[in-house]
Amino acid sequence: MSNIKLRSGGTIPLEMHRARMVQKINLLPVNERLEKIQEAGFNTFLLRNRDVFLDMLTDSGTNALSDNQFAAMFQADDSYAGSETFFRLEKVLVDLFGKKHFLPAHQGRACEHIIARTLVKPGSVAIMNYHFTTTKAHITLMGGGIEEIISDEGLKVKSDAPFKGDIDIDKLNEAIKRIGTENISFVRIEAGTNLVGGQPVSMKNMREVSAICRALGIKLVYDASLLADNLYFIKTRDEEFRDVDIQEIMLEIGRLMDIIYFSARKLGSSRGGGILTSDDEIFSQMRELVPLFEGFLTYGGMSVRDMEATAVGLIETLDMGVISQTPVFVEALCNEMQANGVPVVLPPGGLGCHVDAREFCNHIPQEEYPAGALAAALFIVSGVRGMERGTLSEQRNPDGSERLAEMELVRLALPRRVYTLSQIKFVADRFAWLFENRHMIGGLRFTDEPKVLRFFIGQLEAIGDWPQALAKKFAEDFGGSL
Ligand code: F0G
Repeated sequence: MSNIKLRSGGTIPLEMHRARMVQKINLLPVNERLEKIQEAGFNTFLLRNRDVFLDMLTDSGTNALSDNQFAAMFQADDSYAGSETFFRLEKVLVDLFGKKHFLPAHQGRACEHIIARTLVKPGSVAIMNYHFTTTKAHITLMGGGIEEIISDEGLKVKSDAPFKGDIDIDKLNEAIKRIGTENISFVRIEAGTNLVGGQPVSMKNMREVSAICRALGIKLVYDASLLADNLYFIKTRDEEFRDVDIQEIMLEIGRLMDIIYFSARKLGSSRGGGILTSDDEIFSQMRELVPLFEGFLTYGGMSVRDMEATAVGLIETLDMGVISQTPVFVEALCNEMQANGVPVVLPPGGLGCHVDAREFCNHIPQEEYPAGALAAALFIVSGVRGMERGTLSEQRNPDGSERLAEMELVRLALPRRVYTLSQIKFVADRFAWLFENRHMIGGLRFTDEPKVLRFFIGQLEAIGDWPQALAKKFAEDFGGSL
């Protein structure tokens, strides 16, 4: 565990590792940060990483690798077919989850593509706690729809519920009745529910959902991309599991689910992805798609080096000292933010600290993307890159109107074992300044809006000259300091 008690009775998040290799980062002056975000069309995805001070866009493919992961990469068996590396990774995965079959894919969304192609029929509905952007895009691409039945607590910014990602069982029963078993492509549980603030799902909930699906013959799909954080929360927030081995917890999850998939850019802290199942029929259907879309069955689009790193990273997921790193630092950042009055999603989840842009910028209408504007403003005043997770990350309705997001969040992702406590304190300090000056932040509008997943490459402009005024005020207040 890495939340260590202090003499005063408080706790401190402690790094349970040492840095033997480091990368230099640059903090550009504020006027240059302003220029860079303008050049990026106010979209933090379009910034160049060399212009970013702390990259808190995502933990995807940006977690620190361990010495053992690097060492394993040297043993990779490079071959198109029948690579020993594949068999090593397969064994780790089938052992961890207790499943029969493993299919490799180049990343999480590739797994979603294969699963959607196999199970989604036009007009069918996938029921889930909450969507992830790429999940929904692949289901709708196949002509299916989605229905979200997360617990009411899940959509409250501030809550005491320890497992806000839980499915509402009444809503599940009602949805099944209304939609009809034959029209349901699958039920999906997303561990560490990404878009509502990295909120975990309880084992009790997984057991209940699984029992309902089994009784009706509905396939239960598990997105395990954020499982590492979710495991930490099961261990620390559910009394039943305090003394249970993480491996045992993973095996139980494996028993409850029909299909498990993951992004190895997150789970396993490497690159790649994969699908696990014990269902022979579904396996043989999905297997045909892998060589077509991903690569041969023993690499699926992954490099063998990444597969070796993933295998070791998955084993390291059994270590609380490793998997606690993100959640304890997220909690520390949330605590600092709260102490400064900045509204954040509570309780702290995994993945990152999520700032409530709706409250932070309550003077900006959702149609002018308050979370996008806040992410851009943060970059101007700190060089920190966060990610918009609100209306901008939604797709327009078929009639062209905006689909207003249920939550307007700016995510400050904390890649595992990358940033230190002083860097966390720096972020909180700059955010506090921004909060005091929040009324200076204005809205954004699109200048170039892609139809699908527009948040990735869409470009926007500021409504008014608020970015210039904000940069000027920052320079005055900090007396020319960065
Ligand atoms: N499912 C979840 C829950 C995810 O968080 C992601 C990726 C995916 C699926 C897709 O995986 O990127 O390997 O194709 N989330 C990243 C993020 C992009 O920044 O949160 P992928």
